[in-house]
Amino acid sequence: MRTLGTVAEAVEFRRNCSSPVVLVPTMGALHAGHAALIDAARIRAGKNGTVVVSIFVNPTQFGAKEDLADYPRTPEADLKICAERGTDAVFVPTAEEMYPPGDATSIEETALSRGLCGAQRPGHFRGVCTVVAKLFNIVRPDAAIFGEKDFQQLAVVRRMARDLFFGIEVAGHPTVREADGLAMSSRNRYLSTDERARAAQFPAALTCAAKETNPAVIISKATDLITRGTGSSPEYVAVVDAETLEPLQALDRPAVLAAAVKIGQTRLIDNVRIAPSHGKI
Ligand code: PAF
Repeated sequence: MRTLGTVAEAVEFRRNCSSPVVLVPTMGALHAGHAALIDAARIRAGKNGTVVVSIFVNPTQFGAKEDLADYPRTPEADLKICAERGTDAVFVPTAEEMYPPGDATSIEETALSRGLCGAQRPGHFRGVCTVVAKLFNIVRPDAAIFGEKDFQQLAVVRRMARDLFFGIEVAGHPTVREADGLAMSSRNRYLSTDERARAAQFPAALTCAAKETNPAVIISKATDLITRGTGSSPEYVAVVDAETLEPLQALDRPAVLAAAVKIGQTRLIDNVRIAPSHGKI
């Protein structure tokens, strides 16, 4: 389905006979991580509920120097994965449909968006919030599922949905990883063989550093291991409160170790949770 009207009508029709409606927003180039989100959506929706997958490479969340033009697009393979997972509706709008001429409204979450990826990619989360709000209004799902690899995105979208009273449950799904630990991402296909081997050192560095009990030590160890393992210095490494995303000085509450690193031209992000009991409180 390519238009707002057709997807809204299809969902409305099904909503009348069944519920709930669960949305999986994606930018396509679907992989096993997305398949896991679709499966989780089906479990939530139940046999009689409706699973909607949206596929839209959202231009407003890319910076001027980022990879919008090169972002992988695999429409046929995407539709096959959706069909195999029993998706009820796939919404593949055009940019003109989502941003019609004269479109002049955007949504900005101003607290959780500030640090981490938000600091490196100005305007990124404004683009994400705007498109997700549009998708929420078009599909009107009961719940939407996002991968926890993009843990800041999940927190930002959750906050936006709460602040704007969308009444939509924003659920996270654990990161799906390759056998060597690399988090699945559509951008992994940019990596050359050598870069792919180095990329595996990124999650390994985070997992190892997260065993320390002091945020400053975790950050310095992760920075060192990422730099030595991947051959690139990280864009950021941070230990933050899992809810507020504020930097932590002590592990006295649920925390997340999050980082971004560019290997060649490919920007990778990842994170690991750190339990509060892990630190000396
Ligand atoms: O995570 C993504 O793929 C995108 O940021 C999203 C949530 C589909 C919005 O374009």
